[in-house]
Amino acid sequence: MSESHYAAEAAEKAGSASKKLTAPDIRSRKSTGTPIVAVTAYDVLMARLIDAAGVDIVLVGDSLGMVFQGLSNTLPVTLDEVCYHGRAVARAKLHAHLVGDMPFMSYQVSVPQAVESAGKMLKEGAFESVKLEGGADMAEQVRSITRSGIPVMGHLGLQPQSVHLLGGFKVQARTAETTAKILADARALEQAGVYAIVLEAVPPDVARQVTGAVTVPTIGIGAGPHCNGQILVCTDLLGLSPAPGPKFAKRYAELGADAVEAVRRFATDVRAGAFPADEHAYAAAPSTSRSAPKS
Ligand code: KIV
Repeated sequence: MSESHYAAEAAEKAGSASKKLTAPDIRSRKSTGTPIVAVTAYDVLMARLIDAAGVDIVLVGDSLGMVFQGLSNTLPVTLDEVCYHGRAVARAKLHAHLVGDMPFMSYQVSVPQAVESAGKMLKEGAFESVKLEGGADMAEQVRSITRSGIPVMGHLGLQPQSVHLLGGFKVQARTAETTAKILADARALEQAGVYAIVLEAVPPDVARQVTGAVTVPTIGIGAGPHCNGQILVCTDLLGLSPAPGPKFAKRYAELGADAVEAVRRFATDVRAGAFPADEHAYAAAPSTSRSAPKS
């Protein structure tokens, strides 16, 4: 896509909903009833494309460890890496609200550590709010980060940073006891001051109960239709991750297959001498006639 295409998109946005979205705007969606649309991004190229589509939230998830770094889980992702990707995404000058995931062990150790890490994410990562995993156990962290002036998004259900404790990436809250726990956790996060809560991999009825129990919006991923919004990882949505991908993720395109086909055609053209053609070559500088030197 060309620069002029982005300029046209920007002009179109300026004519309609050009307002930059903030954490309070996202929170108010609970009462307005307009569903929240959120997508992950990890670089400026993807962030521009996603923002041009008019989403509400761009999340630099710690899923970057799996999507971008090829890791088997999110645990090794560092604060510096999240900040690096945040700066790159922020250069897209988003209309959407920009959220950054607090990486494993950047907030669990202590409340002061959590405040310091969240502060670094705003100062060095250009984020506008942070997301962290956990319920009542993380309420003090949420309270203190919020008190420092930084909006916090919660994350309940499947918490990928606890993958070893959970014994894998498994659906959560499948019993009455664990459903009661997630409801208590959601209420604790709300009281601590979160402006929204991600619900990952829980049965739809559990998401419905949590959504009804709190005054802040819920944003589901693998949590069914009863949330106040939905989030997908960009590579799942665009068909850039290996098929078939997770059960909950709808593939709206097959850009991975298109990319392989495009590069295959480039390789065929190069090997056949069909690329570059004349229109891909530069003309020589126009010749200038000079008068013969005088003897
Ligand atoms: O890291 C991430 O991308 C996330 C989303 C899946 C919600 O936490």
